[in-house]
Amino acid sequence: MNKIAECQNLRKTFKTFSSEVVALRDINLDIYQGEMLMLVGPSGCGKTTLISILAGIMHPDSGVCSVQGLDLNTVSSEKILAFRAKHVGFIFQSFNLIPTLNVMENIMIPLIIQNVNAEEAYEKVLKMLDDVGLKDKAFSSINQLSGGQQQRIAIARSLIHNPSLVICDEPTSALDLDTGQKIMDLMKAINKKSKTTFVIVTHDSRIYDYADRIAYMNDGTILKQEKRGSS
Ligand SMILES: Nc1ncnc2c1ncn2[C@@H]1O[C@H](COP(=O)(O)OP(=O)(O)OP(=O)(O)O)[C@@H](O)[C@H]1O
Ligand SMILES: [Mg+2]
Repeated sequence: MNKIAECQNLRKTFKTFSSEVVALRDINLDIYQGEMLMLVGPSGCGKTTLISILAGIMHPDSGVCSVQGLDLNTVSSEKILAFRAKHVGFIFQSFNLIPTLNVMENIMIPLIIQNVNAEEAYEKVLKMLDDVGLKDKAFSSINQLSGGQQQRIAIARSLIHNPSLVICDEPTSALDLDTGQKIMDLMKAINKKSKTTFVIVTHDSRIYDYADRIAYMNDGTILKQEKRGSS
């Protein structure tokens, strides 16, 4: 399998005026194209810090993080921005949709950033809405949608520009079990169909069965990695 990302000896410390927290101690992790990798571990163990570095949002103090051969420590911030806009999608616990924009406009954002023309963007969004089962909501406002529907819109937005890597922070924790499983079914189907790589941070052991691999973190380190027969 091809590697899509590689972390070597990552270390990150947060300093405040009164204390110092080592968020990542010595992280070594390979991520392979097309896999669904879950990062799990107790609150505060460094999961969000690790995916923030993978997404190029945060720099480590030391160590190397490269994604698709691009060393995120050494390239310019403009290059990282362009890289992220093209290759990375995000899904957050709280959906992070923009309430003043309707469903269509929310999903279109990554395409606008990439200067896709309006007509093409419109067609793409309609097709994506069809894929996530919400074509009839194209012109609804965000606050008319249920939590599960909002998360499906967030998934649509994260995938609309065909990213090779989708990073999700607790995508199901705000949802009930049934809705969470539907969201995971949807992500798994996309993962299988388009070979998109998913890195999913979760506390939710009910969704572990969707993973191809689980990396267990504790106190800034990866304790063990477990390969799973994915569903
Ligand atoms: N900006 C920051 N400034 C100071 N400390 C921080 C900052 N961000 C994270 N930390 C600390 O770094 C450690 C790791 O935080 P991180 O958010 O990566 O944990 P997490 O595993 O995602 O936790 P949770 O499951 O609760 O989301 C924690 O001790 C946290 O308090
Ligand atoms: Mg977190």
